[in-house]
Formats: sequence, structure tokens, C-alpha cells
Amino acid sequence: YASTIEADLVVIGGGPGGYVASIKGAQLGMKTVCIEKGETLGGTCLNVGCIPSKSLLNSSHYYHLAHAGELKKFGILVDNVKLDLERVMEQKRNTVKALTGGIASLYKKNKVEWVKGHGKITSPNQVNALGPDGSVISTINTKNIIIATGSEVTPFPGLEFDEKQIISSTGCLSLSQVPKKFIVIGAGVIGLELGSVWQRLGAEVTAVEFLPTIGGVGIDGEVSQMIQKMLVKDSWNFKLGTKVTAARKQGNDIIVSVENVKDPSKKEELTCDTLLVCVGRRPYTTNLGLEDLGIERDEKGRIPVNNRFQTVVPSIYAIGDCIHGPMLAHKAEDEGVITVEGIAGGAVHIDYNCVPSVIYLHPEVGWVGKSEEDLKKEGIEYKIGKFPYLANSRAKTNAETEGFVKILVDKNTDKILGVHMICSCAGELINEAVLAMEYGASAEDVARTCHAHPTFAEAFKEANLAAYFGKPINF
Ligand code: FAD
Ligand code: NAI
Repeated sequence: YASTIEADLVVIGGGPGGYVASIKGAQLGMKTVCIEKGETLGGTCLNVGCIPSKSLLNSSHYYHLAHAGELKKFGILVDNVKLDLERVMEQKRNTVKALTGGIASLYKKNKVEWVKGHGKITSPNQVNALGPDGSVISTINTKNIIIATGSEVTPFPGLEFDEKQIISSTGCLSLSQVPKKFIVIGAGVIGLELGSVWQRLGAEVTAVEFLPTIGGVGIDGEVSQMIQKMLVKDSWNFKLGTKVTAARKQGNDIIVSVENVKDPSKKEELTCDTLLVCVGRRPYTTNLGLEDLGIERDEKGRIPVNNRFQTVVPSIYAIGDCIHGPMLAHKAEDEGVITVEGIAGGAVHIDYNCVPSVIYLHPEVGWVGKSEEDLKKEGIEYKIGKFPYLANSRAKTNAETEGFVKILVDKNTDKILGVHMICSCAGELINEAVLAMEYGASAEDVARTCHAHPTFAEAFKEANLAAYFGKPINF
């Protein structure tokens, strides 16, 4: 028999958006139920996204340092370096297990009830949790509902994933051997990160990208060009301004048909043994019951919401990858917190201009705010402050001197409008830039803030000095 549960808040989906919203709801005194159909909590991010990809990036980076002789310059001689791919995967699985288990513990600690099932909304104040056969396991009556059902891989027309040779990001995180010839369709974030994993482990990687640039949306042009150069030095092949039109299996190979975007008569066939499709993700809202409630989706399949994250049905909210904005875990999390605070009567505010982006290559790439291209398009007058890592003492010490920090400030007010960096710890350092921008800092504010020495962050200070005063000290 189906159970009936009375709740204040039902959250559908236990990814970064949903689990954070659930915990916040319980902390604010709401009786909170989270419906998640997966075997573990954490959603795409913890199970098949951010976390496993970063584990593989870390392990492959260590392998590359040892195998490519990069440790020699530090006086560390290692012979006979070998790869134990099964151990690499075990390390990844252990990390995922610990972190997804951690959320289950947080649910217990905060008294969030996890109902394992597929959530389907049956009325503005009721959700059914369905079992794998579609039968109702639980009926939950609730004051409010948050949809946090996330996204899924956008398929490529005519290609079916076997997750061994023709793979999505999910299969790419669990390959049982290193591909010899690896093609990625799309040189966006996933193409670059997961391409790097297998390139470092020994694959010959070719990225086919529709756009003339790599790195996806929002990346600054100068940064994109520099990372392309770095990857080419690592022996990546790029086919830019090139569209994949089809792919087929031929024996053990995959033949990929591509054509030039500007001149479609220029066609070519490429051969590989493994093909990663990473042409973006799309909102996942299958069988949620939205149609019957009159909640329509936009042309990209996203659920429209107002500035309190309310859908057209006032008791039903939506957050994360299934609504507008960048598909990022931290964006989903922040929306989760403020939506719940809004339900409790609080203010709801998020500045999407202050949501940072990071591509976890080595060195890492981080940015927040406007790119030079954005500012030119918007006709905003700006000044640039730049500082190269070649002149940073910590970067020199660690022999990690590739990259720079670039600050874009308003020409008239000195307010920071955008920060772009390539540096081994950009994923950490970009958060200082976010903090500065959230507080409306000027470049002079940062340049006059004492920074510990010797650190990578000093380059951020120096770039701000260059932006407001025209000259840094150490370059
Ligand atoms: P999701 O994490 O997708 O969670 C949605 C959950 O809802 C899922 O668990 C799903 O099972 C469940 N669900 C769906 N429908 C129902 C239903 N009807 N009933 C019950 N449960 C349901 N972002 C970053 O910020 N940093 C990164 O480094 C990063 N790396 C990534 C690497 C890869 C390979 C991929 C694929 C993504 C990466 N992302 C990264 C993106 C990040 O994973 C997403 O932005 C984030 O997971 C979105 O969170 P969410 O809560 O909106 O949705
Ligand atoms: P993406 O949107 O970043 O890149 C897809 C690329 O594929 C685009 O550059 C597009 O021009 C190209 N493309 C599309 N069709 C093509 C075709 N037929 N031929 C050639 N190129 C084609 O999407 P991606 O890389 O799949 O990632 C999905 C999302 O996951 C990202 O939007 C990002 O938000 C998230 N993510 C975030 C990470 C991070 O924060 N570090 C890491 C990985 C994913």
C-alpha cells in the first residue's frame, strides 16, 4: 500500500540544487521531503559530473607529471612509470561514495526525509513518488514544491550511445582502457576536461568544434586562445569552425564525417576508436506532470520562473539546470538556498554576473563577470590590468608560470567588471574576484588589500594595481 506523508516542502531531485534546498528547508523548520529516484543522492554533479571528473583530472595530472618526466626538474627521478587504470577508477568511486554518503548523513542530521522514487506532481499541493514500474509508493501532501530535476546529455541525432565506443560524459568517466584515437564532438567545458583526462593517460585527442573558438560560452577571447595554444603544445588536435554531421561504426573504428561551417563543400572523414559526444546538456523534466498543471517549457525545454523562482503555479518553484542560466552546481545550490528563504518570507536575490566559471585544466581557467567581447558589445568603456604568472614568485617557485590574471574595470569609476585568469589554482583564486565583485570593489580597493607572500593571489592584487594605477610593481 502507498503511504501518505504530510509535509511543508517537497523537493524533487537530490542534486546540488535539490539537496541544498532540502537541508535549508529543514534548517528553517519546514518538514521537508526530498524525492530522488537515483540509488544515491548528489545528482549529476556528485555521481557523474563535477566530482568523478575532477578525480580523474587529478589522477591523470599526477600520471602525466611522472610519466612525461615533469618531475625531473624538481630532482625527482621516477623510472618505469605505469598506469593502473582500475586503481584510478577505484579512487574515483571511493570519492563519489564518500561524498554521496555524506549527503545521506546530512539528511539524517537535519531530518530531511528521502523518498526513493520518481516524483510526479499531481496537483499544486501534492506529489506522488513512483516506483520503477510506475506504481505509487507514496503520496505527499505539501504546502510547497521545488522542482530540481536537473539536466541530461543532449543526444546527437542518429548516434546511439553504447558507452564503450560512442560515449556520453557518463561513459567517458568509466572507460576500461585508454583510447588510442579519441575524438570529442564539441570543445566546450566537457570536451576540454574529459579530453584532457584521456590525453594525459595516452590517447591522441582531436576536438571538432562548430565555433571558431574553444571553451564554450562566456569565455574571454584572449583566454580561449591561450588555452588552445597550451593544449596544442600537449599535442591536442583542433578542428575549429567544423561541424560533425554524422558518425558510423566500421569494424572496430568509428568514422566521423565533418564539414567546414563556412564552406560546407569542404568535407572530411576522421577515424577514431572512441567518440565522445559533448554538445551540451538539456533540462530533464520527463514525466513530472507539468503539462496537466499548465506549466509550459520554453524553446530550450527550461521551466520559466519569476524572480522568486516561482512557476506559473505559485506553490511550485524550480531551480538549477532545469531553468535559465548557466548549468553549474554552485548556481543550482545558491538558487536552492534563496528559493527556500523566499518561501519562508525572506528576500530573494542572486547576481548572475557574479557566478564564476572554472575549467579544470592544468593550469586551471577561471572567470567571473564580463569578458572583453561583452564590454565591447555593450559599448562600456573599460581599462585592462594584466599580470603574468612568469613574474609571480610562488608560480616561479612551483615552476607553474603559464598564465596570467586580467582585470577589466570601468574606465570612469574603476569598478571591477570582469576577471579572467589562467593559473594552476584559478578555481580557488577566482573566488576572491567574486567576493570583490559582490562587494562592488574597485581595482584600487583590491590593490590596497594586503595579500600574503609568496602566493598566486599576489598576481590578482598586481593586476588590480595595473588596472587602476597603470603599472604593477613586479613586472
Ligand atoms: P542534477 O545534479 O542533474 O540533479 C537532478 C537530480 O534529480 C538527479 O539526481 C535526478 O536523478 C533527479 N531527478 C530527476 N527527475 C526526477 C524525478 N521526477 N523524480 C525524482 N528524482 C528526479 N558543474 C560545476 O559547477 N562544476 C563542475 O566542475 C562541473 N563538472 C561537470 C562535469 C560533467 C561531466 C557534467 C555532466 C556536469 C558537470 N557540471 C559541473 C554541471 C553540474 O553537474 C550541474 O550543473 C549540476 O549537477 C546541476 O544540479 P541540479 O541539482 O540542477 O541537477
Ligand atoms: P558546452 O555548451 O560547454 O559545449 C558544447 C560545444 O559543442 C559548443 O562549443 C558547441 O559549439 C559545440 N557543438 C555543438 N554541436 C556541434 C557539432 N555538431 N559539431 C561540432 N561542435 C558542436 O557543453 P558541454 O561541454 O557538453 O557541457 C555541458 C554543461 O555542463 C556545460 O554547459 C557546463 O555548464 C557543465 N559543465 C561544467 C563544468 C565546469 O564547471 N567545470 C565541467 C563540465 C560540464
